[in-house]
Amino acid sequence: MNLIVEKTLLSPNVTRLVVEAPRLAQVRQPGQFVIVRLGPGSERIPLTIADADAERGTISLVIQAVGKSTMDLTELEVGGSIQDIAGPLGRPTELLESGHAVCVGGGVGTAVVYPIAQGLHAKGVRVTSVIGGRSREWVILEDELRAQGEVVTCTDDGSYGRPGFVTQALKDLLDAGGIDAVYAVGPVPMMRAVTELVRPYGVPITVSLNAIMVDGTGMCGGCRVSVGGETRYACVDGPEFDGYIVDYRQLADRLTTYRGFEQDALERRAAACRIPGLGTLAEAMSAGTTAAAATEAVR
Ligand code: NAD
Ligand code: FES
Repeated sequence: MNLIVEKTLLSPNVTRLVVEAPRLAQVRQPGQFVIVRLGPGSERIPLTIADADAERGTISLVIQAVGKSTMDLTELEVGGSIQDIAGPLGRPTELLESGHAVCVGGGVGTAVVYPIAQGLHAKGVRVTSVIGGRSREWVILEDELRAQGEVVTCTDDGSYGRPGFVTQALKDLLDAGGIDAVYAVGPVPMMRAVTELVRPYGVPITVSLNAIMVDGTGMCGGCRVSVGGETRYACVDGPEFDGYIVDYRQLADRLTTYRGFEQDALERRAAACRIPGLGTLAEAMSAGTTAAAATEAVR
């Protein structure tokens, strides 16, 4: 059991849990992840180790509540616990040894790029982070990244920082020159767009692939990705790869494989929610309560 000692809402659907995991806190390296199981029979969820405090014996997990299992996790409170945290898994980031690196984080991908920025900064590499969110409230970890170097913050709607996607700000940095490496993590279209932007400049680019994972140890094949025309397993060969040779189209297709199951699980979860005075939504509806009345009761 891993005790939750801190909980912070970073954006409307992104939560940071600081969890007791002393061994992991000692040995984890940038780029590595864990597989989390909330309780018996729960789904396994791969999560990047976003930060660690070796003295306190804790690690930080940043979770975007998009499906049933991630919603269950983000509803845990301080004092609650996570049954299993397996790791550290995956290959550590190949960190630049000197020079100037740009770390690009799109939305919740910023939590994945953060430990990379930390690792680079600790080596004495100059770090510029370019982070983006749909609007101000979706920007995460800006202050934490500022402690690692310069930060350019972008919002799609221009409500904060520089208006537009992260790619626009990155282009200015590339045009200015002197960039030795780019690390990019975020939605697949973002990583593909960043790769195509960087390609003519010939700067090495590393991306982190959020493939579907089950065991995290190379046995199930769920996380297979095509890199340089070869099948690789994101859990043991990655999750980070040379962005220039990743087949992003295949990754995007594979990420949609279980969408129907995920939707069913979400609907079952919503139906099991308890409404004060009416029991579960499913019970209330079968007793003749209309959806409108149930919604009113929840309010
Ligand atoms: P989002 O869709 O809100 O995008 C975040 C930012 O990325 C935008 O503000 C923009 O700056 C940039 N961006 C998005 N699309 C772009 C494009 N086509 N071109 C250039 N820039 C673009 O992101 P979100 O909702 O926070 O993230 C959710 C997605 O991130 C999910 O698909 C999730 O699977 C993925 N994700 C990936 C990883 C990973 O390791 N690669 C980790 C966590 C989440
Ligand atoms: Fe099963 Fe990678 S998660 S092989």
